[in-house]
Amino acid sequence: MSDTEQQDRLDKEKQRAAAQALRWVRDGMLVGLGSGSTAAYFIQLLGQTLRGGQLQIQATATSLATEALARRAGIPLLEPRRGLRFDLTVDGADEIGPRLTLIKGGGGALLREKVLATSSDYLLIIADSSKLVPQLGQFPLPLEVVPFALPWVLDTVALLGGNPKLRLDKKKAPQPAHSDQGNILVDCHFKSLPDPNQLALQLQDIPGIVEHGLFLGLASAAIVAEGDQLLLLRP
Ligand code: 5RP
Repeated sequence: MSDTEQQDRLDKEKQRAAAQALRWVRDGMLVGLGSGSTAAYFIQLLGQTLRGGQLQIQATATSLATEALARRAGIPLLEPRRGLRFDLTVDGADEIGPRLTLIKGGGGALLREKVLATSSDYLLIIADSSKLVPQLGQFPLPLEVVPFALPWVLDTVALLGGNPKLRLDKKKAPQPAHSDQGNILVDCHFKSLPDPNQLALQLQDIPGIVEHGLFLGLASAAIVAEGDQLLLLRP
């Protein structure tokens, strides 16, 4: 299969997973909207459903890009406020490991994604089949880092074996990529991640790391499309 054919196949899987996720949305829900290409398919389909008048929901976006997409799709948006909890957040993932452990943040939205994931009663992950892995760690683990702390964070993560690399801004390379919050995005290349829980604790202890892309114990379910099949996975 050529690269283009493979990409087309994965794109169709993303669309199928996104379409299936619409079944989780109920009238009146407050919904968290994830970031990335799979979440974008969900947002477009959700917008179509709302325009059809079948249901009404309100939503909050996990990135500026998602916010713009949701506005274009006609989805009513809520600003963050105290007491706000989401019935459902639908988001993509870069890797889905055992018991729905996740690596997220390939699109740089890990901080807002984790804020919404932890403020949601139900986190539904939607993905194509390439995201399912027997052990996390092939995909570089993203970190969001405060600019002042960057040199020390890089030193400390290197000591942990993380081989950290600054993510480059795709449009302004060689400038580093920044998150929506203006922090620096770093990708860590651990050779393997046999104990994600322990690594998460170590990363949380490093001053200057605002967030890391390990999402552990957060996903309620995942819809993974694999060819014509739809898998519904639970932790
Ligand atoms: C963005 C994310 C995305 O959910 C993740 O990168 C998956 O993206 P895609 O659906 O395009 O494969 O975590 O920060």
